[in-house]
Amino acid sequence: MPEADTGKVEKSFYTDVPQQSELFFLKGSNSYDWGMKNRLARIFDATSGKTVMLAFDHGYFQGPTTGLERPDITILPLAPYADALMLTRGILRSVIPPSLNRATVLRASGGPSILKELSNEHIAMDMDDAVRLNACAVATQVFIGGEFETQSVINLTRLIDMGNRVGMPVLGVTAVGKELVRDTKYIRLATRMCAELGAAFVKTYFVPDFETVTAACPVPIVIAGGKKLPELDALQMAYEAINQGAAGVDMGRNIFQSEAPVAMIRAVRKVVHENMRPEQAYEMFLDLKQQRA
Ligand code: 5RP
Repeated sequence: MPEADTGKVEKSFYTDVPQQSELFFLKGSNSYDWGMKNRLARIFDATSGKTVMLAFDHGYFQGPTTGLERPDITILPLAPYADALMLTRGILRSVIPPSLNRATVLRASGGPSILKELSNEHIAMDMDDAVRLNACAVATQVFIGGEFETQSVINLTRLIDMGNRVGMPVLGVTAVGKELVRDTKYIRLATRMCAELGAAFVKTYFVPDFETVTAACPVPIVIAGGKKLPELDALQMAYEAINQGAAGVDMGRNIFQSEAPVAMIRAVRKVVHENMRPEQAYEMFLDLKQQRA
């Protein structure tokens, strides 16, 4: 029997307490629909507002990259320490157990290999498949100033339109062609273009005066790690990026090519989520490395 509605007197209506409406914690993201926000909240930690994404999608254009020859062996032990995994749908389906329960950001562009002109990319995944795979975001690259600049920008905007239909955030990645200078002015241009065109968040490289890049970009920015650096230098870069407005890292080689990848991702987490100073995080890295953590 359903409970009879006996009226106001017996119920707690809290008539004197206005319902709270929270502002969504991520920069520039308050106007999105619920599904889009929920996906972003699985990538970014609502307490720190930051994310540690582990990038290992390199194989989509360069095959078995050093450290990724066997992602089942090298990446799975790292996955529990990442807020989100950035990868291809091929590796997701073939290697990552669905029970792992990590947020995923799927590489959705492709085409040329390292043997060809890299900017000649196309969208390489249907949005239906991203939804089927329960992705939290999809990613495509823009090659501003590159040979196929316009094509790569149209890839981004088409993906954003596809994503908006289903509540899927799009990560705009600012790639740098061989012939282009990766300076602050260039990075400001490319990141701002991604945001203006509708990317929910942007991945780029750390450059001097990075606070001008984050200030000019109305949505969150995560930094790529780039080529392998000594661990202390990579931690220093993450620290500076966070303190100049980055919303996290999307780091690959500086983690999975480290001598102690689990120790490294744990140290990166401390810097990103707890603003630990790089020297202290490096001490932690050395301790964990010694313990073979
Ligand atoms: C390639 C990517 C990669 O995911 C990313 O750049 C790799 O990360 P890292 O530079 O830290 O190895 O987006 O275009």
